[in-house]
Amino acid sequence: MKSNNVILIGFMGTGKSTVGRLLAPKLGYSFTDTDHRIEQEQGRSIPIIFERYGEAHFRKLEKEALENALEEGNKVIATGGGAVLAEANRKAMLDGGYVVALKADKATIMARVSRDEDRPLLRGDLEERVTTLLESRKTAYDFAHLIVDTSGLSPYEVVEYIVSKRKVTGC
Ligand code: S3P
Repeated sequence: MKSNNVILIGFMGTGKSTVGRLLAPKLGYSFTDTDHRIEQEQGRSIPIIFERYGEAHFRKLEKEALENALEEGNKVIATGGGAVLAEANRKAMLDGGYVVALKADKATIMARVSRDEDRPLLRGDLEERVTTLLESRKTAYDFAHLIVDTSGLSPYEVVEYIVSKRKVTGC
């Protein structure tokens, strides 16, 4: 297991992919996104995978995608919001690099996720779904080495903050 990755975790709409894409070149790393890897490998979109094969199957694919990305090393890895729910994934992330949790307030998350329809767990009443999931995952991201509240920050500011903290801790 390589241990030099930066792994971005956080609820849907906290900006993991946007921040990850900007952060990777700053560190001389390449960027990868577990959801994107799953879609490429399966030749299907995340909503179709959920619809046809169910969430449990998606979680298996997510675990594999995460393990493969960690193994490659020198990566900034954006994970799906639910990747932290499995204990094995949390351990793999902590062993595989520096784990950064992106947080945002509910209004910011709502504004960001309402822009697209590709999140199966948010189908239906968006506000109700976000409220329920945020509550059930209230502490799910707290195991990270670094927690960044991104509300009111631009993606560039989030990147600068992560780079400065990472230098200080030397991880
Ligand atoms: C999920 C988050 C999504 C995607 C899937 C499930 C979750 O990724 O993995 O729809 O359980 O929170 P993003 O966090 O990138 O939206």
